[in-house]
Amino acid sequence: MSNEVKDYYRRESESAERYNARRFKSPGGEAVSGRELMPFKLWLADCNEGRLLDAGSGTGRVLSVLTPQARANATAVDASENMLEFLRKTYPETNVVQGDLFEFQPQGQFDIVTSLRVLDHFPLSDQEVLLDRFKSFCSPGGRIIVSVLVGPTPESMVSSMVKGGHMNYFHSRRQYAKLFDRCGLELVRKFDAFVIPRGILYRSPRFLVPPAMAIDTAVGKLARFMCSYMTCELKVLPS
Ligand SMILES: C[S@@+](CC[C@H](N)C(=O)[O-])C[C@H]1O[C@@H](n2cnc3c(N)ncnc32)[C@H](O)[C@@H]1O
Repeated sequence: MSNEVKDYYRRESESAERYNARRFKSPGGEAVSGRELMPFKLWLADCNEGRLLDAGSGTGRVLSVLTPQARANATAVDASENMLEFLRKTYPETNVVQGDLFEFQPQGQFDIVTSLRVLDHFPLSDQEVLLDRFKSFCSPGGRIIVSVLVGPTPESMVSSMVKGGHMNYFHSRRQYAKLFDRCGLELVRKFDAFVIPRGILYRSPRFLVPPAMAIDTAVGKLARFMCSYMTCELKVLPS
């Protein structure tokens, strides 16, 4: 699976500009991306001095919410050279490394490891390997911020019916609670979003995006179990 995911993104990012435009530049894409980045923006606001590793950085969305100083302390790792080339041009201050997350050995340790929209491409057993690796990259007291997909939810149902849906893994909240426990990670805070499947939001006409996002927020607050997207801040527990 790891190679299938890498190959998919190598093909997708043949033009990183086109990849970005397709994902994030439509009115719905911008709104979805803004919401996916919201917890990263909030929770990383205090990390100016910290050493941060962004694992599976793509074109650098997580870096986009950091201050220039925090970006200068950051390292981005991704398998796709095209994604990284784009990132290098946008954020020349960031240290960029091409590597496979299942093999990469960083130099030094990090206060924070972030990974946005990466774990959900892998089955739970691989996610456990990745979380163990992220944990080993952290200095004592370090934290990990990851996003995952949760099911069964409206998006997991839609995803199972569309082409490419097999590249997204939706696990239950209970499975994640157990996984974090097994990995020696304490869930410090979480952010739930997207009752409406993101694929629908991406394609919504401009005038529908604000009401759709408002409905999504309201329903999500009342029925968190319907949210398909969860961002978690995890504290590395002493072993
Ligand atoms: C959905 S994209 C997310 C990119 C970025 N974090 C964002 O949210 O915009 C998944 C990223 O993971 C990278 N990736 C997938 N498998 C990988 C692996 N085994 N090693 C390193 N990077 C990998 C892909 O190249 C791609 O850039």
